[in-house]
Amino acid sequence: MEIDILKDFSFTPVEKSKIDTFDFENVQFGAKFTDHMLVCEYKNNAWQQAEIKPYAPIQLDPSARVFHYGQAIFEGMKAYKDVNDEIWLFRPEENFNRFNKSAVRLAMPEIDETIFLDGLKALINIEKEWVRKGLGNSLYIRPFMIATESGVIASPSNEFLFCILLSPAKSYYAGKIKVQIAEYFSRAANGGIGAAKAAGNYSAQFYPTKLAQEAGFNQIIWTDSTHTKLEESGTMNVFFRINDTIYTAPTSDRILDGVTRKSLIDLAKKEGYNIEVRPVLVDEIVEAAENGTLKEIFGAGTAAVINQIEAFSYKDKMYELPNMDNEGSYALDLKDKLTKIQNKLADDSFGWTV
Ligand code: COI
Repeated sequence: MEIDILKDFSFTPVEKSKIDTFDFENVQFGAKFTDHMLVCEYKNNAWQQAEIKPYAPIQLDPSARVFHYGQAIFEGMKAYKDVNDEIWLFRPEENFNRFNKSAVRLAMPEIDETIFLDGLKALINIEKEWVRKGLGNSLYIRPFMIATESGVIASPSNEFLFCILLSPAKSYYAGKIKVQIAEYFSRAANGGIGAAKAAGNYSAQFYPTKLAQEAGFNQIIWTDSTHTKLEESGTMNVFFRINDTIYTAPTSDRILDGVTRKSLIDLAKKEGYNIEVRPVLVDEIVEAAENGTLKEIFGAGTAAVINQIEAFSYKDKMYELPNMDNEGSYALDLKDKLTKIQNKLADDSFGWTV
């Protein structure tokens, strides 16, 4: 669909682009942003005219609800440039739908598709030069919504701000990671907001993750409230390979319905891998690590794509995974196939790229 920026969105361009000052070779994930952002206010029970304007600080009343009650949600998506300089999004309607599910759970208004998806396309169209070609390069997209109404009364806001930021990206983690299985802290509970992409789900992880990092780990693999089932790893869904079968937990109230997760499940099936979606028990993974049948653990998410896990600890014991760098890694094979689809370097028989 052609988007008429001037008709659908108000557009204020920057006076001078900062693209020449951006070091595309040394990119720190999510640290710097493109010239423009999209903003749209919600008030009087309606979304207002969306605006694309220079990236700049947002001014809010200090009593705005987001600061006090954390009414805030976000999404993570990526855009890729192919060899013909065409720009592609990966399953954007999945992020749009999940954003609105998160909005409902956090008592926030659902966003219109024209603002989220057409607005995103219009913004990327303006920022084309910021998307670099080649496997490993992408433009990370961060849509978010915050509660802006002033007043510290503990009730849902009636005013909100929706915003989309863009940030050139390479990898999220520098290499393989070491994880700790959660034995005390929990990320989510039944009936809670674990499945929503709520800002609070991430801040709640910071303290336990900081303790894990002080102990030499990169991330935590979260368990359910009984600490018997393996659920999610930090910013990623998590997959376990025992012998020739890959296992990953079903989504629930506690687990984010990851777009990379669901794409990998479909891709693995198509490529003929055995993959089972069923609860994964801590005990079976420890046992498999002890008897040598545990071959791989990997995390999957938009930012990280697929990240291999080289070791995990449980009850103060460290379990090393076999080194699968060269041959035989299901994680690396699936990562290669998925990123080639995303970058239009392989046939997209699923119709995922837009
Ligand atoms: C993503 O993969 O987009 C995420 O949400 C991770 C983010 C917290 C960095």
